[in-house]
Amino acid sequence: MKVNIPPIKSQGIKTKLVPWLKHLVPVDFDGVWIEPFMGTGVVAFNLAPQQAVLCDTNPHLINFYNAISEGEIIPEVVRHFLNNEGAKLLEKGESYYYEVRARFNHEHKPLDFLFLNRAGFNGMIRFNKKGEFNIPFCRKPQRFAQAYVTKIVNQVDYVAKLFKRKDFVFKCQDFKETIKAGTEEDIIYCDPPYIDVSIAQPIYIINLASQRLQRK
Ligand SMILES: C[S@@+](CC[C@H](N)C(=O)[O-])C[C@H]1O[C@@H](n2cnc3c(N)ncnc32)[C@H](O)[C@@H]1O
Repeated sequence: MKVNIPPIKSQGIKTKLVPWLKHLVPVDFDGVWIEPFMGTGVVAFNLAPQQAVLCDTNPHLINFYNAISEGEIIPEVVRHFLNNEGAKLLEKGESYYYEVRARFNHEHKPLDFLFLNRAGFNGMIRFNKKGEFNIPFCRKPQRFAQAYVTKIVNQVDYVAKLFKRKDFVFKCQDFKETIKAGTEEDIIYCDPPYIDVSIAQPIYIINLASQRLQRK
């Protein structure tokens, strides 16, 4: 199975689990696919159910996907933005990354979030106690070379087309709120944050009708 990578990446991305999760979902599933801990969204974007509610407490993640869903961010806009910002990064180097980071922490624009995600160290997403993005530069001023920009543009294109065909909703909310919405027809896929990275974290797939609970 070819797994499509989403435009916003993060360290806990479950790309490798997508084929296993796809195999668990009944072929005639027509309920709502619910993710209380959306993260990158790689699972929902590849399983592509007819209806999905994807939630996370990271508002920037949710704003980014709402902007795509509402047609505010389209592939051409992303190409133009990354080409421009990439050229400035190449010219000014590391200091430009920190300029964009300061701008993002002030204005919270979704395209700046994409830039930081792709030019930050190891694609990590982390905020300080004041809610400011605090990941350092990946130290590659040539980061946004043409091939890399095209790759990201194609990733945006994939999700934009998906949101036109399917009913995907994005909400910034705590998992406790999200799981309340589940009915017997739905599936809740839970991949919570890591408390201790040295311990394997269980993932839960819950269907309220059968109370079936799978752990991996
Ligand atoms: C392990 S990641 C999910 C990874 C995702 N399955 C993937 O493949 O990309 C956990 C996510 O939970 C979010 N999160 C942390 N605490 C949360 C809470 N109380 N309610 C909802 N989301 C939360 C984090 O922002 C992070 O995006």
